[in-house]
Amino acid sequence: MEPPEPQHITTSKKEECPLGEQDGMLYGEYLQLDKILSAQRMLSKEDNRTVHDEHLFIVTHQAYELWFKQVIFELDSVRMIFSNHMGLDETETLEIVKRLNRLVLILKLLADQVMILETMTPLDFMEFREYLCPASGFQSVQFRLIENKLGMKQENRVRFNQNYLCVFGRDEKALENIAKSEKEPSLAQLVERWLERTPGLEEDGFNFWGKYKENVKAMLQTYYNAAMASETESERVFKIGDFEKRKAMFDSVLDPSVHDALVARGERRFTHHALQGAIMITFYRDEPRFSQPHQLLTLLMDIDSLVTKWRYNHVLMVQRMIGSAHLGTGGSSGYHYLRSTLSDRYKVFLDLFNLSTFLLPRKYIPPLSNTMRTKLNNYWGQDEDSSKKDTEPKKIQPQLNSKASNTIRDAYAARDAGNIKEVRTEG
Ligand code: HEM
Repeated sequence: MEPPEPQHITTSKKEECPLGEQDGMLYGEYLQLDKILSAQRMLSKEDNRTVHDEHLFIVTHQAYELWFKQVIFELDSVRMIFSNHMGLDETETLEIVKRLNRLVLILKLLADQVMILETMTPLDFMEFREYLCPASGFQSVQFRLIENKLGMKQENRVRFNQNYLCVFGRDEKALENIAKSEKEPSLAQLVERWLERTPGLEEDGFNFWGKYKENVKAMLQTYYNAAMASETESERVFKIGDFEKRKAMFDSVLDPSVHDALVARGERRFTHHALQGAIMITFYRDEPRFSQPHQLLTLLMDIDSLVTKWRYNHVLMVQRMIGSAHLGTGGSSGYHYLRSTLSDRYKVFLDLFNLSTFLLPRKYIPPLSNTMRTKLNNYWGQDEDSSKKDTEPKKIQPQLNSKASNTIRDAYAARDAGNIKEVRTEG
């Protein structure tokens, strides 16, 4: 069979490309691609000995810097929402969770992106490394801004890193932006202030901390009693040793002066009150009012984890490219300096990671009082303020009073414990 005759296209240029002659901005203009796509200056090419991989090296760094810009944009917006109300308006928690989640996804991408540059071999890198000296990621202003805005404290940086400002010596704008980021409240400080206001911490109210202390004492007493009831001397000595370790650990959180000493030594970050809030949110995360705050705390840990993962992936790549004996182009010891930034000193939300140390088995979690449960259970249709008139038809309202909802909760608890098979609710 003959192939079909090629058809002559007779449409006018305008029909082919209807937007071609239209006024207004097009894709390239809107995104200013002329600027972005003309910014890949290969020094090896200018020197008439083009090294293929220099292009990838430049594009990768530029892509990082663009994403850093977005990270700062999101981070600033979250800090702004937190500081708007000297705390946090609860109606905005979802927006914060949304933006933190976006940050998490970007950081995940950034940690994984390292692999693309690893397709370059050390020999290829060596071919053009001399051109970039003394440029180094150590001079990335945006990276320092991210660290500071998250809450990285100067005193927690390792020695070489404490001097990070000197590389911006002549760049007034960079110095100004960094000085601002060191002074403004960081995300960690804003979160700390928010945690300090966790409902239920009030001593003259639910007094969570008072109850927590009592229950820790009761739990430790059972450990002690079990140790003393040991059948053999060696078992007793082992169990008493274990009990003493646990006691010392709980004392470090129960006694504010020990906690403050640990903060001063850089081993803890949050104030004692904020730590109490974080523990409380973790215990009662299933209560509606605490579920978003709990998600928020989890996302903060994800952010810290992913920054650490980026540091780790980057240091592995550096070792692969320049080994562990070469100095960095930025003047550090290279691999050894970068490896020292992998420690807990660089975790901004360190306390959230260590929170599990202070959690209690469920049976020791202080039960919520009815008032506290009502406070944390703003069911749809349930009004805390009885003076507010309900305008929705009653029949579509879910459970309206806490007593009823407790009954349902108890029924589900009984089902979960295997006492009944199915929960039936009236109406
Ligand atoms: C071949 C690839 C790379 C090598 C060999 C390399 C090497 C190094 C070295 C040795 C340092 C320590 C400072 C110094 O220069 O003395 C450093 C720091 C740094 N690099 Fe890279 N790097 C590479 C790719 C990247 C990429 C793709 C980024 C993305 C932005 C990046 C960002 C940074 C940052 C932000 C620092 C400062 C880290 C800190 O002080 O905690 N690097 N790099």
